[in-house]
Parts: sequence; C-alpha cells; structure tokens
Amino acid sequence: MSPFVLTRTLPEDATDAALRADVLKGLTSTPKTLPPKWFYDARGSELFEQITELPEYYPTRAEREILMDRAGEIAAATGARTLVELGSGSSRKTRYVIEALTGLHTYVPVDVSESALGQAGHALIAERPGLDVHALIADFTGGLSLPDTPGPRLVAFLGGTIGNLLPAERAAFLASVRALLAPGDALLLGTDLVKDEKVLVEAYDDAAGVTAAFNKNVLEVINRELGADFDPAAFEHVALWDTRSEWIEMRLRSRTAQTVKVPALDLAVDFAAGEEMRTEVSAKFRKEGMRAELSAAGLELAHWWTDGQGRFALSLSVAR
Ligand code: AVJ
Repeated sequence: MSPFVLTRTLPEDATDAALRADVLKGLTSTPKTLPPKWFYDARGSELFEQITELPEYYPTRAEREILMDRAGEIAAATGARTLVELGSGSSRKTRYVIEALTGLHTYVPVDVSESALGQAGHALIAERPGLDVHALIADFTGGLSLPDTPGPRLVAFLGGTIGNLLPAERAAFLASVRALLAPGDALLLGTDLVKDEKVLVEAYDDAAGVTAAFNKNVLEVINRELGADFDPAAFEHVALWDTRSEWIEMRLRSRTAQTVKVPALDLAVDFAAGEEMRTEVSAKFRKEGMRAELSAAGLELAHWWTDGQGRFALSLSVAR
C-alpha cells in the first residue's frame, strides 16, 4: 500500500453550493453576517500565515510553546497509534506531537484545502518513512467518517479555531468529535483564553493592517466566486471585545450608504452608512467553562497546559 492516500469526501461542487447558501443567508439576515470559513482562499490563507507572525497575534506562538514543552507528555498519556488532525493546514505545529508519538501508525490530516493536504502529507512522509498518511478532504463540521486504522486514537484540533463556532455549534461539534472516539481515546484541543481586553483587541486589529486585509478578503472571495461588486475600500475593519459572550467579533463597517450586487444569487444588498456586518466570532475560554463543555460531550478533562504567560491553553481530554 502506498503510504500516502488522499480521500475526497466533499463533492467538487459542495464548496460552491455551501458558499452560495451561506452568502445568501448572511446577506439577507438582520444584522448581516458572513461565516469566517470563507476567508481562506489562497490569498486569505497567505494573509493568515502573515497574521501568525505579527507581534500582536500571540496565539500561534503561545500554542507552539505548549506543544514543544508538552509533546512528550501528550505522547505518554495517549500512546496514540492514529492521530487525526482537524483543520490540519500546514501541519507545522503538529510535528512536535508526531515526533513524540513513537508508536504512531497513521496520521489522518483533515482539511478543506487539497493543496495544503498534499504538501503537508508529502513533507511528513519524507521525514517519517513508514508512517501512513491518509489525508481527508472534508469539512469536519459536517461529521466525518474515518479510515479504519489502529487505536488508540487521538484527535487534535489546534489553533483555537473552536472559538469560531457559536456555543450551540460548539456543543454539536464536540459531540461529533466524541462520536469518532472509543472510550479511552483522546482529544487535544487548543483554546485561546480570556485576558486583558487591550491585548485581545490588538491581536485582531494589528498596527500593520494585515488583519484588516484578511477580513476584507472575504469580499474579494465573494466578488470572484459569485460575481459580486463589493468595493473592499468602502468597508472599514472593526474588531471588538464582547464582554458578555467573551468573544472577539470582527466586523466590516460600510463607510457609506451603498448597494452591492451579487449576480450569481440574483441579489442586490443595501448597506446603510455605518452598518456593520459580522464576519467572525473568536471565542476565548476559561478552564472551568471548557471542562463543563467537554463533560457535556462525554469528554473528561485530563490535562490543561498553558504557555508561560497564561495566554493560551492546550487541553487533553479522554472519552468516557
Ligand atoms: C484561525 C480561527 C484561530 O480566531 O484567532 C486571526 C482566525 N481571525 N485573526 C482566530 C483569525 C483574525 C483565527 N483562527
């Protein structure tokens, strides 16, 4: 058997249909919203890579620090023979865990980006001959079916991306992850933590304007894919901290009253001057809240590791 297998569980046209449905729903809702998953075309992914290197954007560095420090403990606690990584992207930070898991048999990276999966998969096989890589092109929010590989299984969801889900979506997501696990299998979850408002807001509104460009990129995606005529310069990047929900919200604020056409949806959308459209929620967490959410999904918090500055947490929980 070839050590690299790529399986597409998403039909080629599923992405297009989902984008249309999301944009139609979001732009005809009050207030208007767009889901953050559409940021990540090639340009958006490149901008996100730049974000991870900004001085203000600490989560990537903080999580890398924890993974470097704790990879040995993660390996010892799980003894995983199969590692499934949801939203694997470049798989860069995961290397520490893969290297520590000496008994690892199969790595299953799951992502919607076929190019990221191909690159990461081939790089890994070169470094770790003998490791099976079974990449899945899939949207992991829709429930997954995994290849039949040896246990124990470890599912990793890094980067704090769980914060993009609203509380009800999060509960459904954690339940779907639990369904992938047998009792004793584990989930490794990255979560950004509640902290000083200024630190949080600056992480999402950097001085160089990279996050602003990332936010506006969703308009370029809709222009290209749906023939829309959004003028990104006619919108202003907004990042705010919602104290009650404990999440960062990114919005795009219309600078003027304007009408945007979306021909593929046969839609004309009016924006009032100053009207704000939500493009992302990035929830921040606390240990006890996370423990309760995991527990409700049948997962028991076993380890909670933070970086030296207590900004970000990596948790390991075990399926009951
Ligand atoms: C990739 C979802 C973890 O929420 O911090 C970065 C995306 N948005 N800057 C995050 C993001 C604005 C990021 N995640």
